[in-house]
Amino acid sequence: MAEHMAPVGVFDSGVGGLSVLREIRQRLPHESLLYLADSAHVPYGEKSPEYICQRCRIIAAFLLERGAKALVLACNTATAAGITELRELYPQLPIIGMEPAVKPAALATRSGVVGVLATTGTLKSARFAALLDRFAADVRVITQPCPGLVERIEAGDLHSAQTRAMLADWVEPLLAQGCDTLILGCTHYPFIGPLLGELLPADVRLIDTGTAVARHLHEVLAERHLLANGQAQQRFYCSGDPLRMARVLPILWGENAAVEFFAG
Ligand code: DGL
Repeated sequence: MAEHMAPVGVFDSGVGGLSVLREIRQRLPHESLLYLADSAHVPYGEKSPEYICQRCRIIAAFLLERGAKALVLACNTATAAGITELRELYPQLPIIGMEPAVKPAALATRSGVVGVLATTGTLKSARFAALLDRFAADVRVITQPCPGLVERIEAGDLHSAQTRAMLADWVEPLLAQGCDTLILGCTHYPFIGPLLGELLPADVRLIDTGTAVARHLHEVLAERHLLANGQAQQRFYCSGDPLRMARVLPILWGENAAVEFFAG
């Protein structure tokens, strides 16, 4: 197969990265995509950086064996823990990661108070500290870890009273402190955007990184003459229960698809 027609490999701890995959499909409809949900190891947010780094190595090797021409870490937590090592391991490979959108949020806020919803792992990481040093000198940033939320989204529970109550407990203190801009610093969270919208006043802005990641992937592939043309295919893999993932795909991805088991 010509190199430019090879697929892009995308992964996350679970189904959260589908929020990024949707953006990639929309921007790059000719790209074939391999998506791996590491559901047997979800959530990453409460695990050590060493553990996540090892998962990143195993998953990257699998996606490369299947011919990936580029990798997207559709996971803020995995990017914080593993992207540096992956780039050292595969210096020639385009590897795109993602981080909470602190810079756009700092530019957007009018009250000067920005909230960040993300996993414990992302918020504790050195990469996140560096991001704040670089872009948040002139604003107040309030961080809020959301333990337990990823598990609800994995189960396709995007609207229940329990999910709503969890979110309200995290968001109300941020609003009370004047937050007018809220960063969704985990790829699972765009799926509860509508529920958040019900809890937030209309002038609070939600900032997500999926679109920017798709745009960046587009630029990187174009620079390297790796943009595909013609018909695209998507394949889904899951280290947990493929049937469980297949059940939530119509909700989170918008279509049915077969899911293959990944034993790594
Ligand atoms: N979706 C992931 C992220 O962007 C990780 C969620 C988790 O497994 O804790 O951070």
